[in-house]
Amino acid sequence: MRVNGEQYRAVWWDNGVVKYVDQRLIPYRFEVAEARTLDEVADAIVTMGVRGAPTIGVMAAYGLALAAERGDNLANAYKVLAETRPTAVNLKVGLDRVMGDDAEQILAAAKEFDESEVAAAEAIGEHGSKLISSGTRVLTHCNTGWLAAQDWGTAASVIFKAQRADKSPFVFVSETRPRLQGSRLTAWEMTNEGVDHVVIADGSSAMLMSRGEIDLVITGADRIAANGDTANKIGTYAHALAAKAHGVPFYIAAPKSTIDLGTPTGRDIEIEERDENEVLSVRGVDESGNLQTIRIASSGSGARNLAFDVTPAELIAGIITESGIVEPSVKAISAHLA
Ligand code: MRU
Repeated sequence: MRVNGEQYRAVWWDNGVVKYVDQRLIPYRFEVAEARTLDEVADAIVTMGVRGAPTIGVMAAYGLALAAERGDNLANAYKVLAETRPTAVNLKVGLDRVMGDDAEQILAAAKEFDESEVAAAEAIGEHGSKLISSGTRVLTHCNTGWLAAQDWGTAASVIFKAQRADKSPFVFVSETRPRLQGSRLTAWEMTNEGVDHVVIADGSSAMLMSRGEIDLVITGADRIAANGDTANKIGTYAHALAAKAHGVPFYIAAPKSTIDLGTPTGRDIEIEERDENEVLSVRGVDESGNLQTIRIASSGSGARNLAFDVTPAELIAGIITESGIVEPSVKAISAHLA
């Protein structure tokens, strides 16, 4: 990704330090942060300085490389990193891909995993952009671009590739309460990429579809079960139901590392529940540019904060991976991965 004329990845290894673009600060500030210990890597994932399923997989792989280089106990490091966030399977895939007992080998494997995720994200964009013709109006949810999947993205990679092929897609960016990954991160990425877009409240999609204003929905995924049921950011399921009701095709875009054949159906996916204060407040900057959290709910109220939901396979037209577009069924998915 290019920001202010410089090339960045969401996460990278730099001489024994894991560096990352701090996603808690975008779009207010663009800052590169550093993690020098296992705990700093884990904290960056838990507090969402680094987020998005493929990117946290790469972050976890570099976290293990860091622990190995520092001589930490690797079984413990694996456990600490694996427990940072439960829903995105890429985290465990990244750890399993690099786990070993030799620091140099772990680092080499982490770099290789990083490169393979970048290549997958770009290929997803190429396959998926065939679904977009000139001026297609696309709805997307959460953030699925450079920040969420190293360098290209998943659903957003499809949009970026279409834009670079001069198809001029128009994008409805669903704001994605409570962490606002849509309005903060996706809108910022779309602006940087020159894609024409508007931000909409999450609840607007059904109304826009009923008016014929949305042609296509594409979102990312945090875990795809063997039968195609897909966990993604809370609110995705509601967009999929609305799309079904209005005859709008709904696609998932994700690398094969997001498909978990060990999870038979969506019911078997653990759904992360986060701190209620994320729902009860909003975060932003004040006039001096300082980050502030402001409570918006009545002081007597509590909240439920489900971070993800599951969209059943029957609502999904297809899953776009680095190898093409696959039907969401046990048979087609296992053949696609073979
Ligand atoms: O809680 P987040 O922001 O990490 O959730 C991210 C999403 O739900 C994305 O849509 C998903 O990781 C897939 S796209 C890279």
